Amino acid sequence: MSNIVLIGAQWGDEGKGRITDLLSNKVEMVVRFQGGDNAGHTVIFDKNEFKLHLVPSGILNPNVICVIGNGVVVNPMTLINELKDLESKGISTDNLRISTNCHLIMPYHIALDSVTENSLGTLKIGTTRKGIGPAYSDKASRFGIRVCDLFNPEAFKQKLINILKIKNAILDKIYSSDTFEVEDIFTSYMQYAQILKKYVVDTAFLVNEALDKGKSILFEGAQGTLLDIDHGTYPYVTSSSTISGGVFSGSGIGPKKVDNVIGITKSYCTRVGEGVFPTELFDSDGDYMRNRGNEYGTTTGRARRCGWFDCVIIRYAKMINNLDSLAITKLDVLTGIKKIKICTSYDINGSIYDNLSPNCETLQKSKPVYIETDGWEEDISDIKEFDKLPHNAKKYIEILEELLNIPASMISVGPDRNQIIIKDNWLKSFLKIR
Ligand code: GDP
Ligand code: IMO
Ligand code: MG
Repeated sequence: MSNIVLIGAQWGDEGKGRITDLLSNKVEMVVRFQGGDNAGHTVIFDKNEFKLHLVPSGILNPNVICVIGNGVVVNPMTLINELKDLESKGISTDNLRISTNCHLIMPYHIALDSVTENSLGTLKIGTTRKGIGPAYSDKASRFGIRVCDLFNPEAFKQKLINILKIKNAILDKIYSSDTFEVEDIFTSYMQYAQILKKYVVDTAFLVNEALDKGKSILFEGAQGTLLDIDHGTYPYVTSSSTISGGVFSGSGIGPKKVDNVIGITKSYCTRVGEGVFPTELFDSDGDYMRNRGNEYGTTTGRARRCGWFDCVIIRYAKMINNLDSLAITKLDVLTGIKKIKICTSYDINGSIYDNLSPNCETLQKSKPVYIETDGWEEDISDIKEFDKLPHNAKKYIEILEELLNIPASMISVGPDRNQIIIKDNWLKSFLKIR
């Protein structure tokens, strides 16, 4: 039995979906524990491309039970569309399970996300406008409507009547925006209930039963450490616990059940949306990463901001998540860059910091301190063994391992399921690779 947690170590889009897909082959269950359809995970195998938002990336493996845990906020309409899309591509969704305790994203959450962003002007967060923040706010305010409410129409309607009075007043009086009718929402959500009913269970029991039977579980993070509501670059964050600690509340298991935490990081860095990004590039190297890495958001299509690898934020992610190793993705994207920079520390008014809390004001004042290493020209996209990488590509990974004092367990060299180098022995034995 091995229970593994996969966490984004940067600002999201590190390649969590493709690593989940790879490892799901060796586990019995994959569990999402936070976030919602703000997530966008692209998985490619045999030239087929799948874009997942709410459904765990284990779904492409027919033998795996895929759980949407209680910590996830669910937009039932987008979930149903995602399920239809998967089924139309021949992927069975029979193994999906949805927690009765998930909070529902309602149409007024989506409307409020948009009008709030519009009204913030230069202070906007750059959200995905999927209603994530407003849904988690209602959860914390105890105004939320949950998946279990879908199956008690009277209670659902009463809750909707109460909350809609408040939401409509805000939309109308503060934002002069369109309001919603109880009957419209009620009718559509009762239809969603019929479609989703077969997937809904108390997933905390399901996950714990699997653990008790010694089954292996993979916990799939969405977003990334620096987008965490408590530990990220607040307020430019998402509204959930994206860190390894989020696994426990978001799925209902205890902390002793996790054996291995893997941080996923790109071999450079990207961010989408607003907020501080010390190593951001505004030059041809940044454009090169964006073009070669196809750095456009899976959920919103927005161009991702690109920059050099930042050791300060990865050291922070290592501490906050208790990372055992790193999966370093997209090494192939750096091929062709003559001199690759690595940010080792920050300079704030002449003082050098290797470790720093990522608070926006401090990061704003931080100037990255770089070292430079030679790049490589060779195509690495078919390489399967670490020792076969060009000298400078190997050196780049080894420098990162040394600067961060953490091993790289995997290195990906292309988006396809097979374009991966497994470097660490524990993972090799887990995947049964010699
Ligand atoms: P996630 O949100 O962390 O699952 O990451 P995304 O799927 O949003 O973004 C990662 C993107 O990079 C996807 O389009 C992947 O297909 C792609 N990708 C992942 N690994 C690699 C890699 O090693 N090389 C290249 N070129 N692309 C990759
Ligand atoms: P995956 O799982 C990258 C960002 C948004 C915005 C901030 C808040 O694909 O890595 P939200 O809609 O969550 O309220 O937006 O968080 N964001 C992501 N950035 N990848 C994601 O998910 C993201 N999910 C949210 O761009 O800056
Ligand atoms: Mg993504």
